[in-house]
Amino acid sequence: MTFLTLLARSPRLARAVPQYAEEIGAEAKVLAAAGLPRRSALALAARHRLTHRFVPSPHYVSELTLVAAAVIERRDQPGHVIELGAYKGSSAAKLSSACRLAGKRLWVFDSFEGLPEPAMDDAEHQIERRRCFARGDYAGSLEEVRSAVRRFGSLEVCTFVPGWFSETLADFDEELSVAFVDVDLTESTRQAVAAAWPSLVDGGVLFVHDATDAKLRTLLADADWWRELGAEPRTSFLPSRTDGFLERRSRTLAWFLK
Ligand SMILES: C[S@@+](CC[C@H](N)C(=O)[O-])C[C@H]1O[C@@H](n2cnc3c(N)ncnc32)[C@H](O)[C@@H]1O
Repeated sequence: MTFLTLLARSPRLARAVPQYAEEIGAEAKVLAAAGLPRRSALALAARHRLTHRFVPSPHYVSELTLVAAAVIERRDQPGHVIELGAYKGSSAAKLSSACRLAGKRLWVFDSFEGLPEPAMDDAEHQIERRRCFARGDYAGSLEEVRSAVRRFGSLEVCTFVPGWFSETLADFDEELSVAFVDVDLTESTRQAVAAAWPSLVDGGVLFVHDATDAKLRTLLADADWWRELGAEPRTSFLPSRTDGFLERRSRTLAWFLK
């Protein structure tokens, strides 16, 4: 079902769009600057808002707009897109629309049963507020994620890879242009970045969500670790953009250009 058909069939959805007119306008500008025609940019920004309203998610729409814009910017370059950490499928739905517009495949990796058991020193985090993670937090089943993408995104560009990263990422060798890592735990972030970074083409970009958390920040600032991944040590990583767009909402998204 297309976005417009969806709107026409649901007065509730249609009412949600004008309510967010200002945000949709700001987000459309970012998408248009990435190279989308203005009309498509507006449609994609509105679709992001709708997705956000109906699919539970811990990210800010503006953050996913930046990731989607990075995908659009790379539409003429090689490399597909990977999402590590899907929850109920809100970010996957948003990224799948960008991938369709950019002619890219979206790989979605998740256990589809929530977080693994955290190590003792990895359970507590400070992601905007104090969190104590446990096994099964942020669980979303494969069917829930597929259904969110079917309703609000583009299922046909997605490949879902269920299982623990320690098993599923070992054989992954697709070329990537954009990677979005949103997995809460330090150990999961370590595994996700270690798999995604070497697969990124030159000019590719890696995003890490929740990077203001002290534990993730320490990992991401570890020069020795970056060297092990074959990269120059990353020095500056926060905030990801200082043009004011993210500042209004969030500063938790870090990015690393290859
Ligand atoms: C915060 S949620 C993702 C939120 C989602 N990106 C969104 O914005 O709606 C974290 C996800 O990471 C997944 N996850 C974390 N560690 C994992 C691991 N080691 N293997 C597989 N999945 C993992 C969880 O199952 C969960 O779906």
